[in-house]
Amino acid sequence: KKVVLAYSGGLDTSIIIPWLNENYGMDVIAMVADVGQGEDIDAVVAKAYETGAKKVVVRDLRDEFVRDFVFPTVKAGAIYEHKYLLGTSIARPVIAKHQVEVALEEGAEAVAHGCTGKGNDQVRFEHAYQALAPELKVIAPWREWTLKSREDCLDYAEAHGIPVAASREKIHSRDRNLWHVSHEGGELEDAGNAPLATTWTMTKSPQEAPDREESVEIGFERGVPVSVDGMRLEPVQLVELLNEIAARNAVGRIDLVENRFVGIKSRGLYETPGGTLITTAHREVEALTLDREVAHYKEQVALRYAEIVYFGLWFTPLREALDAFVENTQQLVTGSVKLSLYKGNVTVAGRASEFSLYSNELSSFTMGDTYDQKDAKGFIQILGLPARTRARLLHSKKEV
Ligand code: ARG
Ligand code: SIN
Repeated sequence: KKVVLAYSGGLDTSIIIPWLNENYGMDVIAMVADVGQGEDIDAVVAKAYETGAKKVVVRDLRDEFVRDFVFPTVKAGAIYEHKYLLGTSIARPVIAKHQVEVALEEGAEAVAHGCTGKGNDQVRFEHAYQALAPELKVIAPWREWTLKSREDCLDYAEAHGIPVAASREKIHSRDRNLWHVSHEGGELEDAGNAPLATTWTMTKSPQEAPDREESVEIGFERGVPVSVDGMRLEPVQLVELLNEIAARNAVGRIDLVENRFVGIKSRGLYETPGGTLITTAHREVEALTLDREVAHYKEQVALRYAEIVYFGLWFTPLREALDAFVENTQQLVTGSVKLSLYKGNVTVAGRASEFSLYSNELSSFTMGDTYDQKDAKGFIQILGLPARTRARLLHSKKEV
């Protein structure tokens, strides 16, 4: 009997390998997904074998992750609870998709993950498993075993001869990929604590950032970022380059108290340097090119889209339907935006689009003859009809 485990090389998933051997008598196939977490993949593979995996399958998902998962959320404008660019949420469905593929290829009967029973990630993985291969059995060790803490896990690892690099001091739960890194736990669990300078890993602090502005220009085609400073780049390279530029200028740090799907409020720090630039610039191209009604309606879609992604409901007909709407809105979202970065700030230094609906002549304070101001009088008169009617009524009642 075989089980495919989503394996990261961290403490939790490492002890899951012997635990599955012991408690399910199953051979463990470790699936290592490269989503740009920046770890030494060879070392992760070696560790999986040392820990008892029968087989290790590595999948480089970086391109698919950015192209088919991250960029759709950018086009949708999806941001969870005003701040979170969904870096972890959006990586789960692509990992789960490949985990399921590996399970089917290997003839496994189960899939397993290392998420706790208190979080969002378990929902994201398992909803995807169900949508893609409902016949697979799902094993979630954290919801079954008696280990309660990191310390328990370290004890278990020691008892089973599993090499652990991690020390016993309390560290954060981190999740990193090409799009972001998240930090939860440790001193962050007290929402009253400011983040420690040492917790951030991807970006410089504003204090460390250079004393002069840096500008960068991002080009978009149909809502998708395609170039940096006029240089055409593939999605992965584009995000990597923008991560570097934003990170050295301290751009992309977020501190958030969020509502988890399971009803718990949790506090986390997020670093999404390149994503912050892309999102900011995308919004500017839309400002020039989208019709007002479409733009405003799209804000509602963005809210719902963010919930769908955060709640782990990627593989659903509603997400697909919203994608169709979003795709339609992006047809003319082509153009470029110049951003200026300075010690954590991003300002817009210019935007242009061949499909811009912005008309200098119409908006100018210099009066021209394309817009007849006299038309505005009738417009406002009719608009104000119900207001005048109601005001008169209220006025007459007051007098009685
Ligand atoms: N709270 C964020 C989310 O729900 C980040 C989760 C981080 N996950 C992790 N396994 N460290 O998307
Ligand atoms: C976990 O509980 O496994 C990580 C945090 C989350 O999923 O929200």
